Amino acid sequence: MTTVLVTGAGGEIGHSLLSAFQQLGDRRVIAMDLKPLEPELAAMADVVLQGDVADVDFVNSLESYDLDEVYHLAALLSTSSEKKPDVAHNVNVNGTMNLLMMCRRVALRRDSAVKFLFPSTIAVYGIRSLEAKQAAGAVTEDQFLTPTTMYGVNKVYCELLGGYMSDNFGQLTDDAGRKTIDFRAVRFPGLISATTVPSGGTSDYAPEMIHAAAKGEPYACFVRPDTRIPFMAMPDGVKALLDLAAAPVENLTRRVYNIGAFSPSAAEIEQHVRSAFPEAEITYAPHPKRQAIVDTWCADVNDAAARRDWGWAPEYDMDRAFNEYLIPTIGSVYER
Ligand code: SER
Repeated sequence: MTTVLVTGAGGEIGHSLLSAFQQLGDRRVIAMDLKPLEPELAAMADVVLQGDVADVDFVNSLESYDLDEVYHLAALLSTSSEKKPDVAHNVNVNGTMNLLMMCRRVALRRDSAVKFLFPSTIAVYGIRSLEAKQAAGAVTEDQFLTPTTMYGVNKVYCELLGGYMSDNFGQLTDDAGRKTIDFRAVRFPGLISATTVPSGGTSDYAPEMIHAAAKGEPYACFVRPDTRIPFMAMPDGVKALLDLAAAPVENLTRRVYNIGAFSPSAAEIEQHVRSAFPEAEITYAPHPKRQAIVDTWCADVNDAAARRDWGWAPEYDMDRAFNEYLIPTIGSVYER
């Protein structure tokens, strides 16, 4: 049975990924997080560990598990990273390097590459004006890689680091050229889950707006109504990770892939929320710094490479995400 390590297992993606693994029933799951996992989440894993990816001794202790795959979800998101850039660098960059080095040793010992699934982000883009953002439309993986946030800088570096560890690590060392890391990354849009709310991200206005309406609470959106970035329903986010992990390596022409689903403005999200929750109280109070961050992120992504190489196709467009996932599920999360 495949043994997988999930870091940041208690986070938003972790919740949905662990539940997908439980349904698949084909993997031994080692779940780790900085904080204790909620009991129902812990019950989905075979081994539960509490620890910090930035703690090199702790990460090295994971070497004893014969890991086949790692889903490295632990990170500080973009808003949190701007509040503590040094902590963000330590967790997002050093944490990733600690894990990659540990995986390299596992792979050398077992003579089998460890698949390393990495959630990157639309925050790697840094478009410097709204005019340029509008003109750019759907951006490809190699455009505008000049992020303005610590999170974006961390993630774009880790994308490159994963490629380096896979292809060129220690070119002058004895074991250079051994295939030890099989690094694969998706650049996630803002993810929207029906069952959890994110914390510390700058795309959080969409899930916050939806969850506030479901709870019957007023919501002041922290970006302008015309703000447009890509979003995705959480089930598609998990599907992307699993589909990319399952793709034959010979089909992959890149290590990092854009994945798209829908690209609404905040006003369009508001309209969808209002049609589901007609009494929703939604206002706009743009936060200048958070607005400036999302204004540098692309309005849409070109995901042709993912579609071509590993058959990426989202199951949820915006209507389906609301009508068949968010609204039906969110009702069971909050008493209405
Ligand atoms: N959701 C992330 C954030 O807002 C972007 O990938 O930081």
